[in-house]
Amino acid sequence: MRPAEALHSRSMTPDQVGDEPRHILDLRTTPVDRLRALLAQTRRIETDAAGELAGVLAGRFVANLFFEPSTRTRLSFTAAARRLGAEVLDLMGEGSSVSKGETLADTVRTVEAIGAEVIVVRHSASGSAAVAARAAAAAVVINAGDGAHEHPTQGLLDTYVIAEALGRLDGFDLTGLRLGVVGDVAHSRVARSDLVVWRALGAETVAIGPAGLAPASLEALGCAVEADLDEALPTLDAVQMLRVQRERGADTGALREYTDRYRLDEARLGTMRSTAVVLHPGPMNRGVEIESTVADSPRCLAERQVRAGVPVRMAAMLDAAAVNRL
Ligand code: NCD
Repeated sequence: MRPAEALHSRSMTPDQVGDEPRHILDLRTTPVDRLRALLAQTRRIETDAAGELAGVLAGRFVANLFFEPSTRTRLSFTAAARRLGAEVLDLMGEGSSVSKGETLADTVRTVEAIGAEVIVVRHSASGSAAVAARAAAAAVVINAGDGAHEHPTQGLLDTYVIAEALGRLDGFDLTGLRLGVVGDVAHSRVARSDLVVWRALGAETVAIGPAGLAPASLEALGCAVEADLDEALPTLDAVQMLRVQRERGADTGALREYTDRYRLDEARLGTMRSTAVVLHPGPMNRGVEIESTVADSPRCLAERQVRAGVPVRMAAMLDAAAVNRL
């Protein structure tokens, strides 16, 4: 098998992966084999020194439908599509007919009629990616963040970076690791995707924050819920620090008290295992959830996360292409 064919090969057929097999809407219902296949594909893409993938999707259209602000996610989906040779149709909520009241479903049908075969959706409503998937006739929908529900490609790239840092790239087995998310877990689609994929791959998981931001109901995601960051930190192999999402209704009460208890500063970092790593999905509020010197330290992998976003999204698009026989 030539390398390009290896990169294309899928270990499963569409009917093996649930009710909406061709889409990537969440990680919670994605079978663990498919999670591992996407991560392994990411690794192959990162080592594609011969550039076998350039042009694989030449002449195809990928539509970016972003109804919410985004820097990293939108640019890396664009970069991923272009690396594969696809053309990107870029639609932003403002300036499109959505601002004239067109529904998401009609917008999806419109971009599909124009020729989009992969449709990337970011929207403030939880469940909107599933709405888009139901509206699509043949295109594959990739969820780029829907409300406080999930952000599956972010969950995959966080997992990839942790596996790389902690020596788990072979097989992506996270057994024996304790991984935490800290802060505004309640409003975070990133946290939801992280917690379910880490658990599925064998890690012990914990959500850490004040009760208003990390409620006990999160245990439904298979994680522990703890309020004391100082107690938790020495037990963790990796920690993902979250932004307080005021636009999604987060209320931290007194921000000063929140930062006193939950900001990752140098003193707290010093209590972690020497091998433990710090993640942040961005955008970062320096001085709030993370001290600037910690953000800039080699222990913080935020920049590596951004870099991993491109191959992860290429893997997602190749997966879509394989399903759709693009
Ligand atoms: C996050 C998002 O938009 O869900 N950022 C990202 O995609 N990397 C996190 C956030 O908004 O805080």
